[in-house]
Amino acid sequence: MAPPPAHPDLARSAFLLAARGEPVPHTPVWFMRQAGRSLPEYLEVREGVAMLEACMRPELVVEITMQPVRRYGVDAAIFFSDIVLPLKAVGVDLDIKPGVGPVVERPVRTLADVEAIPDLTPDHVDFVTEAVRGLVGELGGTPLIGFAGAPFTVASYLVEGGPSKEHARTKAMMFGAPDVWDALMRKIGGIAATYLEVQVAAGASAVQLFDSWAGALTPADYRASVMPHSAAVLERAGALGVPRIHFGVGTGSLLGPMGEAGADVVGVDWRTPLADAIPQVGDRAVQGNLDPTLVFAPTEVMTARAAEVIEAGRAARGHVFNLGHGVIPSTDPDQLARLTEFVQGYPLG
Ligand code: CP3
Repeated sequence: MAPPPAHPDLARSAFLLAARGEPVPHTPVWFMRQAGRSLPEYLEVREGVAMLEACMRPELVVEITMQPVRRYGVDAAIFFSDIVLPLKAVGVDLDIKPGVGPVVERPVRTLADVEAIPDLTPDHVDFVTEAVRGLVGELGGTPLIGFAGAPFTVASYLVEGGPSKEHARTKAMMFGAPDVWDALMRKIGGIAATYLEVQVAAGASAVQLFDSWAGALTPADYRASVMPHSAAVLERAGALGVPRIHFGVGTGSLLGPMGEAGADVVGVDWRTPLADAIPQVGDRAVQGNLDPTLVFAPTEVMTARAAEVIEAGRAARGHVFNLGHGVIPSTDPDQLARLTEFVQGYPLG
């Protein structure tokens, strides 16, 4: 079925213009994890509904995705889901435990384990298509960002069986069992690319590939064992004609290759100043990167730091303002409202 017709205002979207490196009416802003526990209205609708269950109910996904757009007037919405949702959809036995994160019942360790994971087809995620279509109608001229987890980050949950600090078993597979590793990365990459295609076909205007834990890798290991698989996902996403954002945490030494993997916009965490990041990503836009804890400082301290981020971002081909990682659940939403207003009202250079 053909995607819904694009809203005419999307052509003037500050977010999409910045992502493409074109002149903007104001510096666009959205926040990773803008939907979620920092919002009382989120806690209310999630009452008694498990995370993955919520992700599979289109009317809840639409409502939760819209909440930060209504409250803050951010320049983009991000689809409410999770990086492990497509795995759940193909039948991997996993859950998202409150306060913990994704937990996989039987971790993936062998080639047979990898081969037992089905490929994703669009009918596995009909509820995603339905939710995206509903959202695009409600969002009007505000673009929707679809997303997927990158192969390395998703592999870490599958191989470790849950959240991990060192990613030791994952990297042991990468170093010691390259055939299993390649098969696993190919499997997850295929699922991620199909998941992005489904979201864009239903009307998403941009995609973000989250390689949150790639910062655990040296540049050489990233290039040899991870980048080709992320590049394959970004290549399939590139065929969709929408801007591609590529983000990870602690990636100060990986920003060059993360751009080269095929991103239009490189997401930067708060540890790397944009002034250092921009020369590394070359002729691409950047996204970021206010320290997410700055919202706990007095408003004028937060906005002074935000101004520094905006000023530094001017050297890039384009700049999408964001936090350097997700909104911390104890964040005061009123601070994010003030931050949004400040960024959107900040004079253009
Ligand atoms: O607003 C948004 O950003 C969209 C929704 C979104 C969620 N997860 C919802 C969620 C997005 C984009 C993600 C991506 C995601 N999930 C990533 C990459 C982004 C990042 O933060 O680096 C990762 C690594 C995951 C895996 C995951 N899922 C973690 C680490 C957690 C948090 C565990 C916890 O409870 O602190 C989850 C659960 C999760 N995903 C929640 C939300 C709102 C919290 C669960 C809840 O509200 O019940």
